[in-house]
Amino acid sequence: MRQEEPTASELPSVDVTLRVNGSSFHARIDPRVTLLDALRDHLGLTGAKKGCDQGACGACTVLADGKRIVSCLALAAQYEDREITTVEGLADNGVPHPMQAAFTRHDAFQCGYCTPGQIMSAVSLLAEGRAGSEDDVREFMSGNICRCGAYPNIRAAIREVASEGDDASL
Ligand code: FES
Ligand code: FES
Repeated sequence: MRQEEPTASELPSVDVTLRVNGSSFHARIDPRVTLLDALRDHLGLTGAKKGCDQGACGACTVLADGKRIVSCLALAAQYEDREITTVEGLADNGVPHPMQAAFTRHDAFQCGYCTPGQIMSAVSLLAEGRAGSEDDVREFMSGNICRCGAYPNIRAAIREVASEGDDASL
């Protein structure tokens, strides 16, 4: 007798182990759960924010093996072998990352909702070598939307870290 295929709403849960900020987390999740939802709802890491949930605003930006991704478009189950870094993992023993410190110095936020994504994207931008000019920063940070319009201060913070040659690596 032919076996019935499970419907989309009956997909079995999967066990995943995610490496986040240097620690391993285990979760049993629906295979359709995004990395963003896994971080926020299963691991309690709420730094990455949900803005559009469609890959268009950058609020959910995290790093996977040091490269920025929008976590709302990534399936958690596909990131088991990757090293994920969220904004919670940037500080070193309570000392803010140079990019976090620069955002504070330059008052590079208003409501702060976009800020974790902006900072993660900015850290990656420096590693990509794309923060050499104001225009480059504007272009390569264009995937991170700030509805408060804090762009000039955000760019100033990034340019300061880039020009000072601070060790902004992870
Ligand atoms: S919430 Fe992921 S890009 Fe907007
Ligand atoms: S600081 Fe409010 S959205 Fe950017």
